[in-house]
Amino acid sequence: MVEISNAIRFLLNGEEIVLTEVAPDLTLLDWLRLERRLRGSKEGCAEGDCGACTVLVGKLLGDEIVYDSVTACIRFVASLHGTHVVTIEHLRGENGVLHPVQQAMVDHHGSQCGFCTPGFVMSLYGLWMRDPNPSRPAIEKALQGNLCRCTGYAPIIRAAEAMSRYGQPQGDPLWAERIAVTEAIKAMHDGRRVELGVGENQIIIPASLDDFAAIYEANPEARIVAGSTDVGLWVTKFMRRIGPVIFIGHLQELKRIAENDSEVRFYAGVTYSEALPVIAANFPQLLPLWNRFAGEQVRNMGTIGGNIANGSPIGDTPPPFIALGARLHLRRGEHRREIKLEEFFVDYGKQDRQKGEFVESVTLPLLPSGEHFATYKISKRREEDISALCGAFRIFVNDTGTVGMARIAFGGMAATPKRAKTVEAALIGKPWTLETVEAVLPAFAEDFQPISDMRASKEYRLLAAQNLLKRFFLETQGQGERLKREVA
Ligand SMILES: Cc1cc2nc3c(=O)[nH]c(=O)nc-3n(C[C@H](O)[C@H](O)[C@H](O)COP(=O)(O)OP(=O)(O)OC[C@H]3O[C@@H](n4cnc5c(N)ncnc54)[C@H](O)[C@@H]3O)c2cc1C
Ligand code: FES
Ligand code: FES
Repeated sequence: MVEISNAIRFLLNGEEIVLTEVAPDLTLLDWLRLERRLRGSKEGCAEGDCGACTVLVGKLLGDEIVYDSVTACIRFVASLHGTHVVTIEHLRGENGVLHPVQQAMVDHHGSQCGFCTPGFVMSLYGLWMRDPNPSRPAIEKALQGNLCRCTGYAPIIRAAEAMSRYGQPQGDPLWAERIAVTEAIKAMHDGRRVELGVGENQIIIPASLDDFAAIYEANPEARIVAGSTDVGLWVTKFMRRIGPVIFIGHLQELKRIAENDSEVRFYAGVTYSEALPVIAANFPQLLPLWNRFAGEQVRNMGTIGGNIANGSPIGDTPPPFIALGARLHLRRGEHRREIKLEEFFVDYGKQDRQKGEFVESVTLPLLPSGEHFATYKISKRREEDISALCGAFRIFVNDTGTVGMARIAFGGMAATPKRAKTVEAALIGKPWTLETVEAVLPAFAEDFQPISDMRASKEYRLLAAQNLLKRFFLETQGQGERLKREVA
């Protein structure tokens, strides 16, 4: 029998917070600014795009506390149970002395109107703590999710390059308090389920994965929230009610990554950032795509399970995962089943998911040696943008030079992520040459009838998909290296 607590507990800077009443859709940013009067974190876009609201959230990963930059505008307060929230106000030193990161920004003229500045400082603070002497690419990656409309990025980057000269993380209060904070947070993870409110205002924070499975089976109408990088926008942009809500982002069992000689299994709650080292080790071809998912803050929150479960035709994990032959593991109560990932996407807004069933994990077979594999994301902006289309290509060429196997999958080309089966069939058995590739291009129109929308016209989508196959071919011939380096 699971014990129940009726309070959400977390640390805010140096203070323990205990909430017994909170709406499931209350965002951290609104709570900080309106209820706590901590107005250093700003609201620029309220959709996770600009980074003006960036704070750090310390979470337990195993026995360690790990601080991630996150966007407070789309993070729900109830998801903070058992964490440490650090806002810009926490950087204030004795007598108002600036933090090393802040001083570096001042000295390098990294701020003009100042609206974006707290967000930049928090992103850089998170970077400085884990990598005090960051390389230029590391700085650019950490700042992908921060927009500035007036200073320009060069002074901010110069400040980032200089920040270690102003101080080292070992001298930072957050470092000194690490052990005490970790113990305090561990104590909050006391094995109890948290339940607050009733009806639409109900919040459930399961005690474990089994507890979650049982709760969701009994309450299939409840909304699951993992990283809230989709659901957050339903609240801030569409004013939708989302309760009752089951929050699952804290479940350690859903953060497992199991690897063996033939496959890698990601549990649903693994975030993009948590998956990155394993992706780099096992699927290096996916790194350029992985580093172009949203920006750092969203990668720190958004989960692989959420990207699949939302059923979006433009989610970026389904095309490469389908091309790799991924298997999806679904669970309802104690009942588990496995399907091919591509079979999960039935139609627009319709997935093969029963009531009370959730995505537990996804298994990716490792790429057999000798196969070529690449994924290309086409979006209007290089970073922090949703795909207009995303194409994944995997091919095996026999010793005789003919195509033995082809798997091609696209997002943004149909109502669901979908394989290009006519193109695949047209390639098999043919010599892997530019002539073959050009001959099969018309088959794309049989597989896909894309639509025109704000991201791209249907003509653009079809032409871009065809050109991506040509690009893939050229790269398999060693001719696309320059292009590949430019986008990496
Ligand atoms: C600024 C910004 C940029 C973005 N850029 C990209 C991008 O480049 N590429 C991209 O693909 N996406 C992008 N997204 C979308 C989003 O980040 C991803 O889809 C993310 O993976 C969603 O995961 P989540 O954990 O945040 O999902 P949530 O918002 O928590 O949930 C999404 C949906 O999935 C359901 N759900 C979550 N977990 C489970 C589960 N285990 N079982 C069953 N149902 C579940 C929820 O009920 C909900 O319906 C972006 C979002 C933002 C805000
Ligand atoms: S206000 Fe723009 S990311 Fe939060
Ligand atoms: S300093 Fe004005 S938006 Fe960045």
